[in-house]
Amino acid sequence: MNRMIKKAILPAGGLGTRFLPATKASPKEMLPIVDKPMIQYAVEEAQACGIEDFIIITGKHKRAIEDHFDSAFKLEESLKKSGKKKLLEEINRLNQLNFAYIRQREALGLGHAILCAKPFVKDEPFAVLLSDDIIDTDAHLLRDMINLYKEFESPVLALQKVPISEVNKYGIIDGTKEKDKIYRVNNLIEKPSAAEAPSDLAIIGRYILTPDLFGALEDVRPGKGGEIQLTDALSGLLKKRQIYGYLFTGKRYDAGDKLGYLKATVDLALKNTELSVAFKEYLVKTVEKIKTKQ
Ligand code: UTP
Repeated sequence: MNRMIKKAILPAGGLGTRFLPATKASPKEMLPIVDKPMIQYAVEEAQACGIEDFIIITGKHKRAIEDHFDSAFKLEESLKKSGKKKLLEEINRLNQLNFAYIRQREALGLGHAILCAKPFVKDEPFAVLLSDDIIDTDAHLLRDMINLYKEFESPVLALQKVPISEVNKYGIIDGTKEKDKIYRVNNLIEKPSAAEAPSDLAIIGRYILTPDLFGALEDVRPGKGGEIQLTDALSGLLKKRQIYGYLFTGKRYDAGDKLGYLKATVDLALKNTELSVAFKEYLVKTVEKIKTKQ
């Protein structure tokens, strides 16, 4: 079991503008995919890698996240009384985890959100998971990244190849391939144009980071969009130490975007044992109807 990476930071302080008006007064991270809020998928993914301490960066209108991971005594009693054992187990599954919440007073960017966790991380490596990136857990991305960290004792960024027309949505790396799926990072650029992009290797929402990142974050001036960008801090850190990228070839959904959210919902519903048969039947009929109309 992983003994090195014990903490995970889950930044959830963003405004979620791509999901307005749903996110006007409710957190994007609490939008359900089938029957669980997005953020719970990320927590369970980290829990499966032996992580038990979670630091969630919140902001305005984000209190529902704290309530979600709190114990729900009355609900538990009622489920016990009505003999709903399976639901009770489901609700209790996260009870042994520790959650701490830090409020990011202003949404000043992902880098700023991570910097808010500095007093609570101290001198140890940690994972960062962006909960609106839903990762197919069968692919064990986080576990592979932790193993890579153990080998190199250097920060590890999850990478995915993206179409060149989409590089302007991501931090893009210039890297040298060391082994299958493993890159040594030479440079990073936040949201480059297609012409500026050094590659099609985009940084996605899973990171294993080291505490010296906090110093690099403190040195960063607001970059693209006036935000404190994590990519800029990683560029600063790169002057002092090596950073590795791990190419993820499994399924990822950008569920912070409406289309990505819908795709995640469909695929996860198809995997859900209670729903898959009836949902598949419905989907097939719907697709047939669409085809006959075309
Ligand atoms: P996004 O780029 O998805 O931004 O942030 P957002 O504000 O959530 O959504 P849009 O783009 O306006 O629709 C990636 C992750 O970083 C967190 C978000 O909560 C999300 O998990 N984040 C972003 C913060 O915690 N604080 C920030 O200031 C910005």
